[in-house]
Amino acid sequence: KKYAEITGWGKCLPPAVLTNDDLATFLDTSDEWISSRTGILERRVSHLGTSELATIAARNALAAADLDPKELDLIIVGTCTPDEIIPNVASAVQRNIGATHAASLDANAACSSFLYAMHFATQAIKTGAHKKVLIIGAERLTRILDWTQRESAVLFGDGAGAMVLEASDNEVGLLSSHVTCDADARDVLSLDFGLSFDRFGFDGIMEFSFVGQEIFKRAVKGMSASVEKVFAETGLTTEDIDALIPHQANKRLIDFLAKLCKVPNEKTVINIQKYGNTSSATLPIAYAEAVEQGKIKPGDKIMSAVFGGGLTCGAGLIKW
Ligand code: ACO
Repeated sequence: KKYAEITGWGKCLPPAVLTNDDLATFLDTSDEWISSRTGILERRVSHLGTSELATIAARNALAAADLDPKELDLIIVGTCTPDEIIPNVASAVQRNIGATHAASLDANAACSSFLYAMHFATQAIKTGAHKKVLIIGAERLTRILDWTQRESAVLFGDGAGAMVLEASDNEVGLLSSHVTCDADARDVLSLDFGLSFDRFGFDGIMEFSFVGQEIFKRAVKGMSASVEKVFAETGLTTEDIDALIPHQANKRLIDFLAKLCKVPNEKTVINIQKYGNTSSATLPIAYAEAVEQGKIKPGDKIMSAVFGGGLTCGAGLIKW
């Protein structure tokens, strides 16, 4: 029986910081509103494209795994902000790192993309179809935001994170996962080209529309149901969990989920205050940071839960 061991991890956070006070200089908002509703204090803004962010995170993960990129046989990039629609971000990463033997695809399950990618990559390794897989979550959301729309402009940031998964006999990696989509709610969150998408006028700005409180309710419901399924499948309970690493969309939502899962604050990894919501990148960035800070160590059991437009949801139990 094969497992998908996480042998490398890495992140890329652009150095430019945009604080809540910076936003309040051009939007009708305040540090008080943003921090109390979301937990966000600042976010990063990239002048590099999604592919470049993804490439840097990938190089860091490959270095940690000490793996020659030529050995990779699959690259999956979770993103909803690709630089181009065709060709995909994964092929840019593949060329940049010289992964000449890999198949490459982008996966879009909005903010859930990284866990979705990990779920499918792990299955591919378990069946023997693939042996060494690079998974990435990368976003340059600030590029497509409408900076006159305070509801959405304050929530997001740029960044990327990556992991290398390799076939292994060790019982580690993603041991159980459950991914779903509550498609009846696909209209509660959308990012579309709007009227500006025409051959002559598209300016790269997209229209964000979402019903925050509806997403909040459905996200809590969807994530807790997925977490319960993972507990049932593994036979583990909350006492067995060494850390909770959830998608970082809102601190209040994370606190709510932690309470529901009965995970104490000190075991919950939260970095939304520094980076905002980086969509598919929040999970791999949080993992890379948790390793760097010694919050997770080999053998630890970590629960992750995600949600995103679709309305996609999921949870996974990772043994580090
Ligand atoms: N600054 C100041 N005031 C604002 C801002 C802002 N940036 N944005 C909205 N407001 C105002 C609104 O206009 C509204 O004013 P009104 O009462 O006079 O009409 C008031 O603040 C309350 O707005 P709500 O949208 O009801 O605020 P809410 O408490 O629901 O917080 C939030 C919004 C943070 C988005 C919350 O609903 C949430 O976290 N939802 C779940 C996550 C989510 O939806 N994220 C966005 C999608 S991305 C994803 O992760 C899937």
